[in-house]
Amino acid sequence: MTKQPQFTVTDKPETLNVTFHLNGNETTLYVAPSRRLVDVLRTDLAMTGTKISCEIGRCGACIVLVDGVPHNSCLLMIYQCEGKSVETIENLQHEKPNRVQQAFLEEGALQCGYCTPGMVMALKGMLNNKENPTYNEMKEALAGNLCRCTGYGGILRVLRKLSSDDID
Ligand code: FES
Ligand code: FES
Repeated sequence: MTKQPQFTVTDKPETLNVTFHLNGNETTLYVAPSRRLVDVLRTDLAMTGTKISCEIGRCGACIVLVDGVPHNSCLLMIYQCEGKSVETIENLQHEKPNRVQQAFLEEGALQCGYCTPGMVMALKGMLNNKENPTYNEMKEALAGNLCRCTGYGGILRVLRKLSSDDID
């Protein structure tokens, strides 16, 4: 009987250096390239402000900005961050509330707060790229974010407050 070749399956995937800017700081990590950004943030770096829920790009809880644009960090592999600039909700914690955060506070737009970091980052990314968005454009920017507890009333008031018009 011919001897079958033996293959070894390892649970330790190859690792590599990934260098990117994280909240303004150059960061190099030695990680498996297929790790998801959200897991690296939350598990390796203890940055738990970025939330995780659906894990399939449907809820927006995990949104961070990559080069200023909102991305679901559950769908981004860490190797895709090489050379990029990643901004998380933690980058806002040392400032006085920015205008998105202030609007959430003033309008009581959170209950458990689980969806809030993703929403704040989605709106921040939107406002980074468009100075005076309309109400409908603001709604479009939050189309990928789900909230399970507020009923959206406060969140819609936030959008109205941040928009250049108040037309639904
Ligand atoms: S956890 Fe990433 S979109 Fe829901
Ligand atoms: S405030 Fe609880 S999920 Fe939105």
